[in-house]
Amino acid sequence: MCTSHALQLDQTKTDAFAQKMLDVMNGAGLALMISVGHRTGLFDIMAELPPVTSERLAEKAGLSERYVREWLGAMTTGGIVEFAPESKLYRLPAEHAAWLTRKASPNNMAVSAQWVAVLGYVEDHIVQAFHHGRGVPYSAYNRFHEVMAEESMQSVVAGLQEHILPLVPGLAERLARGIDVLDVGCGSGRAMIHLAEAFPNSRFQGFDASEEAVAAATAEACRRGLTNVRFAAKDLATMQESQAFDLITAFDAIHDQARPAEVLENIARALRPDGTFLMQDISGSGHLHHDVEHPVGTFLYTISCMHCMSVSLANGGPGLGAMWGKTKALEMLAAGGFGDVRVESLEHDPLNFWYIAGVAGR
Ligand SMILES: C[S@@+](CC[C@H](N)C(=O)[O-])C[C@H]1O[C@@H](n2cnc3c(N)ncnc32)[C@H](O)[C@@H]1O
Repeated sequence: MCTSHALQLDQTKTDAFAQKMLDVMNGAGLALMISVGHRTGLFDIMAELPPVTSERLAEKAGLSERYVREWLGAMTTGGIVEFAPESKLYRLPAEHAAWLTRKASPNNMAVSAQWVAVLGYVEDHIVQAFHHGRGVPYSAYNRFHEVMAEESMQSVVAGLQEHILPLVPGLAERLARGIDVLDVGCGSGRAMIHLAEAFPNSRFQGFDASEEAVAAATAEACRRGLTNVRFAAKDLATMQESQAFDLITAFDAIHDQARPAEVLENIARALRPDGTFLMQDISGSGHLHHDVEHPVGTFLYTISCMHCMSVSLANGGPGLGAMWGKTKALEMLAAGGFGDVRVESLEHDPLNFWYIAGVAGR
């Protein structure tokens, strides 16, 4: 006999889920429009203006009024901007500007909203990859390094001196005296450039596989006239350096490796006997049932599926994924030759764990 599942539905649960789906649609649209607001500078301009008409805002921003008005429609219905229908004036409250403008950095969440568009750009590739299972190469992505550099300025550079360096006792003093530092998977090099400026007696290098990112890093270091930092396009899996560095950093750069085990071994070999490896990586638990409690768990699994896991698989890697978790990370650090690993969390950066490791047996 045939029984209908529809008859067994819990109506309250069904209605609640329908509402959740509507929230998802609105949130997704809003994230894209927040990204547009960031890239066009509209939030920055609005934050400096008193309540404004769409015409005045468009004029101030040098943008098309028709587009600005439609964007304001999304911002108003999305609860970002306030609208007075009688005067047709729009206002970005200071409390919202505090999370959406360049001046608000490192709290500018509009920077992270750009990932939605970056990931949307490769959706066709990802859908194909669900069928063939082979991943999506870095070359398929648009604006990845540009957005990553902006994200890095907020999540790493802004907290370097106050929060990150103090994770290693005495490190700031050693940097001031002069040590050799390498950043693996340095991207556009913002962290090393910042440290090179702050610690002129130390020598800094950054390796990254991306020629585009290395060129951007080198150009920025030149623009600032820095002579104690250099960048090179190198595959970390074949890096040959031996006992050459006192500090090696990896900011969000290990879980998406194609050959993470070899990379960790190469890092351990490149460290001097009393050297330190400082690894920032995503704060997944390694257990899905715990990750449901993660404040940005869904977003992180999405980025993982549509980028981190996929770029690793595309190069024949294991596809660890961003949410590989602390247990797996510790296991791999130990296998790579690291001992004495400490894991810390920083209040300003709930998305990541900080692993501080020395080389085992040295
Ligand atoms: C998620 S991004 C992080 C970039 C940078 N550390 C930051 O925080 O802005 C990971 C970086 O690792 C680089 N990368 C991935 N696999 C690599 C490899 N095998 N050798 C060198 N770089 C690699 C990528 O090109 C990318 O720039």
